[in-house]
Amino acid sequence: MTTNDGGIDALLQEDRTFPPSKDFVSNANISDPDIYDKAKADPESFWAGFAKELDWFQGWDQVLDWKAPDAKWFINGKLNASYNCVDRHAKSEKRNKAALIWEGEPGDWKVYTYWDLLREVSKCANALKSLGVQKGDRVTIYLPMVPELVISMLACARIGAPHSVIFGGFSAESIRDRVEDSQSKLIITADGGYRRGSIVELKQNVNDAINADSPIENALVVRRTGHADDLMVSGRDVWWHDLVDSQSSVCEPESMDSEDMLFMLYTSGTTGKPKGIVHTTGGYMVGTYATTKWIFDLKDDDVYWCTADCGWITGHSYITYGPLSNGATQVLYEGSPDYPDKDRFWDIVAKYGVSILYTAPTAIRTFMRWGEEYPNRHDMSTLRLLGTVGEPINPEAWVWYWKNIGGERCPVVDTWWQTETGSVMISPLPGITTLKPGSATQAFPGIDADIVDDKGNSVPPGGGGYLVVKQPWPSMLRGIYGDKDRFVEQYWSKYPGEYFTSDGAKLDEEGYFWLLGRVDDVINVSAHRISTMEVESALVDNPKVAEAACIGKSHEVKGQAIVAFVTIKDQISTSDDLVTELKQHVATKIGPMARPDDIYFAAELPKTRSGKIMRRLLRDVAEGRTLGDTTTLADPAVVESLKSQYEDDE
Ligand code: WTA
Repeated sequence: MTTNDGGIDALLQEDRTFPPSKDFVSNANISDPDIYDKAKADPESFWAGFAKELDWFQGWDQVLDWKAPDAKWFINGKLNASYNCVDRHAKSEKRNKAALIWEGEPGDWKVYTYWDLLREVSKCANALKSLGVQKGDRVTIYLPMVPELVISMLACARIGAPHSVIFGGFSAESIRDRVEDSQSKLIITADGGYRRGSIVELKQNVNDAINADSPIENALVVRRTGHADDLMVSGRDVWWHDLVDSQSSVCEPESMDSEDMLFMLYTSGTTGKPKGIVHTTGGYMVGTYATTKWIFDLKDDDVYWCTADCGWITGHSYITYGPLSNGATQVLYEGSPDYPDKDRFWDIVAKYGVSILYTAPTAIRTFMRWGEEYPNRHDMSTLRLLGTVGEPINPEAWVWYWKNIGGERCPVVDTWWQTETGSVMISPLPGITTLKPGSATQAFPGIDADIVDDKGNSVPPGGGGYLVVKQPWPSMLRGIYGDKDRFVEQYWSKYPGEYFTSDGAKLDEEGYFWLLGRVDDVINVSAHRISTMEVESALVDNPKVAEAACIGKSHEVKGQAIVAFVTIKDQISTSDDLVTELKQHVATKIGPMARPDDIYFAAELPKTRSGKIMRRLLRDVAEGRTLGDTTTLADPAVVESLKSQYEDDE
């Protein structure tokens, strides 16, 4: 690691803490030192206080109805998410304020004021209606990070059609599965997107995904790259510029019930089948609005930039719904951080005067590896607050970020949450919480998070266990689309009445939370959730493969990397070409982010006598550790031979 003055090690002491600076005037510092206690004593009033800051067409009769695991928030309240994100600012003194400052990877850019956004969202909403989309219909969105992505999400919300956004890195097959599960009748896509100087073939993937049985009736296509006009299917596909641009710019927002579905978002779980996490309108808006206001501390003159993609929950909550409901000015960027050079992010920060930056630890570790010369090329003195999300951040990366990006002046908020939780659950409040590098610190006020042992008893300070949430919160998932049993089984059965996060965590002596990673078969690669089962089924889909087992191994930059152990069919021989073929097969089946780093061939996989694959042992092998307990193994020689093969390879 390179540093300016060798200072990182000195900064990185075990007990190093960062007390809040007196100069930081927090939004949460509502002359009320005991906000945590107050929220704990009466969480419903706490959340209702934020709800009152949103615009409702009709007020609620009751804040919460909770019969575990089913929660309803703001009963009988009526509102519209796009109205809260757009109209109320467009019709206020903020009408000329920049809402979105978008930069494409090739360097093209566009700015939308709140007034512009209102017109564009309304036009898109009218276009959706003209294609027959009605309240309650699902719409799939598969776009690069272009303004039309945010506009489409808000247009769906405006007419009450739940969206299902699919990250642009997913393959045709992944689109097909998600479209099938959600039964979407429309897909909004683009001909392509730019990534590291190349074109991502979005339209080709959509064409490959839609077969004769597909529920998709139409595709609305943004012309971004102009390279795939011949992929338009007549009678089915329509260009955005042909349809949307000519629509009326007035579209009344639907009055939605607080518990009407706002969107579903597919995420990986412990089986091969992704699950559509369902979020509803009122509670989700309250959760994202409140956490954005207090954790990102948005002020009217801030320029906020979350580097996530709207294909993930972070982009839903902290690009589209949280910042816009707060009336923020935000930057959107289409491409990769190293195009045309490794200082692209810092160029953007300087160019637009970004004051709040939210990114993932994996990106920070990449920047660390590239070195300080890139941030040092730019004046980043506008930054005042930094955030991270997606995976545990190691203290080295935290301190590097604080020092080299934040200039030792910006608090770093490490925010823990999940697709399922909808909004941030554990995070410092900047200007209030004393920070500790590597710790997400405290549960947000009103959130009852705890760490419990196997029996469900709270662990004492200093102890470790499973992270659970003991009371409902507004933006909690309402279900898995079409699969109530899986919802109950996955989240609510280990500790009845409590939400099981599948994350391990420990509590330090001062009651700070330290997240330790997943305890299930989900691998977190560069802050992207991938299930071992998904990769395994992609591998066995290749006719040469008999059996496969995948695990996540620690990786310096990505957090975790995928390692696959594969048994091939008898008549096939192993080769480097086969390794390449299998890696590519997974990338084609799921998407490039699921490509395994390593593939090892095994004559047999280590199994218990009852036939369960012992992943723990494979992890030991992949990370070069002494083997754990092998007594339950059917044939201990299997692991030993794998281990020696792995060591030969290193
Ligand atoms: C992990 C992303 C440690 C965690 C918002 C969780 C984190 C999973 C953090 C959810 C953090 C997210 N520290 N781990 N600050 N943030 N995680 O659904 O394992 O894509 O369960 O949501 O990411 O990933 P998801």
